[in-house]
Amino acid sequence: MSLVALLLTLTPGLSASTAPVRSIPRVIQGGMGARISSWELARSVASRGELGIVSGVAMDIILVRELQQGDPKGIWRRALAAFPDQDMVDRIMNKFYLPDGKPDSVPFKPIPMWTIEAPQQLLEATVVANFCEIWLAKHHDDSTPTNQGFVGINCLTKIQLPNVPSLYGAMLAGCDYVIMGAGIPMEIPGILDDLSEQNDIQYNIDVDYAEAADERTQQHFSPAKFWQAAGKPEMAETTLKRPRFLPIVSSVLLAQSMLKRARGKGPTKGIDGFVIELPTAGGHNAPPRGFRYDPVAKSHSVDLDARGQPVYGPKDKVDLAKFVKATKGLPFWLAGSYAKPDMFADVVALGGQGVQAGTLFALAEESGMSDHTKQRVLSDLSEGDLSVFTDPVASPTGFPFKVLELEGTLSDKERYDARPRVCNLGYLRTGYLKKDGSVGYRCAAEPVKDWVRKGGEVEATIGRKCLCNGLMADAGVPQLSPFKREGEDDRYLEEILVTMGDDVNSAKHFMKQDENGRWSYSATDVVDHILSEWEAAGGEANDGAQAAAAGVVVARGSSAVPPSVVG
Ligand SMILES: Cc1cc2nc3c(=O)[nH]c(=O)nc-3n(C[C@H](O)[C@H](O)[C@H](O)COP(=O)(O)O)c2cc1C
Repeated sequence: MSLVALLLTLTPGLSASTAPVRSIPRVIQGGMGARISSWELARSVASRGELGIVSGVAMDIILVRELQQGDPKGIWRRALAAFPDQDMVDRIMNKFYLPDGKPDSVPFKPIPMWTIEAPQQLLEATVVANFCEIWLAKHHDDSTPTNQGFVGINCLTKIQLPNVPSLYGAMLAGCDYVIMGAGIPMEIPGILDDLSEQNDIQYNIDVDYAEAADERTQQHFSPAKFWQAAGKPEMAETTLKRPRFLPIVSSVLLAQSMLKRARGKGPTKGIDGFVIELPTAGGHNAPPRGFRYDPVAKSHSVDLDARGQPVYGPKDKVDLAKFVKATKGLPFWLAGSYAKPDMFADVVALGGQGVQAGTLFALAEESGMSDHTKQRVLSDLSEGDLSVFTDPVASPTGFPFKVLELEGTLSDKERYDARPRVCNLGYLRTGYLKKDGSVGYRCAAEPVKDWVRKGGEVEATIGRKCLCNGLMADAGVPQLSPFKREGEDDRYLEEILVTMGDDVNSAKHFMKQDENGRWSYSATDVVDHILSEWEAAGGEANDGAQAAAAGVVVARGSSAVPPSVVG
């Protein structure tokens, strides 16, 4: 009997219901803001032995809005009860919790918008919200720990201001992984090192017209001061688990530059692996090479296809053999239409660890997308293929952003143009130096006159969309605008703007309709599908057997690395 066959006999394939115990995950359910990758989704994926990522994007506002909706299932209150400072919890509950929920005709009570120097109230809401989301993903409904798989958090590098307190809150709950893209997260590995030791953090914030070293661009977050202000200084005395850090990259060059220049400890600068994301992925995409960014217009000069989408060419392909060599054998996962058994096998054959998927998880039963929107998308899918538009200008970040074309939603130009422009969440605002020397904040999707008053070019506002309010509506917490749509009597209720990857039509393979006409499938259906062929062939045991048979070195506890890239 061959070694491979012997190992397969001794280690039968894992059944779908058995959660494998791995030292490192094979499937990552990617972070999806805001709240789409909810604790429930992440818990489900972790319960299958893999890595579930919650979104840290705008969790502060999600917490305070859901408390104002009355927290009908008591989920937030269950997590809040586990937070180590109950006085802080009381302050949040007293300000925002409405036991009967707010009436639909009343807007949500706001919290302050982010600035470089954030008030304690905002820091507390952010730390607590991110703690809760990770804590919920790591606990059963009876509040006992699940101790299964891995749970991590995703923040966007571009949404700089809430990042440090968000990561800190997640770490207080024992977060296992941090995954960040949408920008180059050079400082993050070092920040994680420091937060784990409860050291003071200084974070460089991008401020237009300011020099990088300008003191006005520095954000300071001190765990000691945070807990001092909260009246619990002893909380800053323990060390916290340092999560593994995976940057999201789209080129070999970027991975190499992170390994050289990132601010983190050790030979890999605090980087524990990479997610390589291709431009078919949902959410924001890296722009094509040579897609020149204009910092004044806050946009890219464009090479667009007939539909008006950025054109990706051969230079945007990632040479995986080069990637493996350049990244010192660190594990990597491929993302962007990779949620398929054959694609998974391809990655593993190349020495990769596995895949990260988003789109198929976003439509799974456990995701945080509002049920109304999810049913709308699934029911449209049941009638035919849907189309995704890579919008080069919609996102105020300047990155291309994928928009699912859904009739009657903000993906329609006329519908969006009828939305009263307002900026009342401000996560995508960026800093700029004002004439008086202070730092101001602006967003190209805010009312045009405000943007122009702040020195912005009018051209930069064209086609911009308010992702903050659109994504809150997707998560089921839409704000009642202070304004009305032209010709209407009632105040405008913010509408959905859905992002999906090019893989959206693959959801048809999973979705089933029940007798009430409701469509659904579970996150574990997606994981089972991705791993089906590999697990049937013996999973890790087979990788090891094949590697042993071929005489190659097995690295990272599991993946087979071809001999050409070892050493
Ligand atoms: C609804 C949705 C929202 C997303 N939001 C984020 C995000 O906030 N941060 C991020 O790093 N990636 C985000 N992504 C990308 C996913 O994490 C993942 O990398 C990607 O979806 C993988 O490709 P796929 O969509 O083809 O599966 C989002 C994707 C979707 C579908």
